[in-house]
Amino acid sequence: MKNRLIAPSLLSADFGNLQRDIEMLNRSQADWFHVDVMDGRFVPNISFGFPVMKTVREHAKKFVDVHLMIVEPEKYVEEFINQGADLVSVHYEACTHLHRTINLIQDKGAKAGVVLNPSTPVLMLEDIISEVDLVLLMSVNPGFGGQKFIENTYKKISETKDLILSNNSTALIQVDGGVNVDNSAKLFDAGADVLVAGNAVFSSENPEKTIELLKI
Ligand code: DX5
Ligand code: ZN
Repeated sequence: MKNRLIAPSLLSADFGNLQRDIEMLNRSQADWFHVDVMDGRFVPNISFGFPVMKTVREHAKKFVDVHLMIVEPEKYVEEFINQGADLVSVHYEACTHLHRTINLIQDKGAKAGVVLNPSTPVLMLEDIISEVDLVLLMSVNPGFGGQKFIENTYKKISETKDLILSNNSTALIQVDGGVNVDNSAKLFDAGADVLVAGNAVFSSENPEKTIELLKI
């Protein structure tokens, strides 16, 4: 997995034209598809589940990254992997037995990510960092697209990088929420490997061009 990757979030896609939007991303310089699953319990919003995941996998020709914003994610990770998820990320705050859930994801053949809400300190990852393939730092409170980026994320990127280096971990750092063409370069320079962007891509006049700009 190389660095400076862009993962457009399908949460902001046009669901009436989902196949069209997926094909646009296939043609674009986007690296991953980011699939946001919300249950109305872990976060105050409901997005979509398996039927949409099935459509994404049928048409997407790139790595599919599933971000589970749900309680008891361990009950559903296997089905998302069976449906073709390449990476599944679960929230630290939603997992009573995080180590077990990370192992379950990897045993089923996918990469495993752990997600931190904006108020959760990076140090909570000290005893799991060498097991995970990715750390996802939320740069907004999860639940909705189009929110304002939280600046404290830069500090958390640097702390995550230090934690990764001191544990000889190979985990990637992903940032999700409020990413746009004005902050993407700074985020990559700070140490992010993968940036999620929903609103910035799908609300722009030329999404393919915006993806190019996010990578500069
Ligand atoms: C937020 C989701 C994000 C969101 C990003 O709960 O996890 O992936 O869709 O959207 P933007 O880029 O619009 O902030
Ligand atoms: Zn997300």
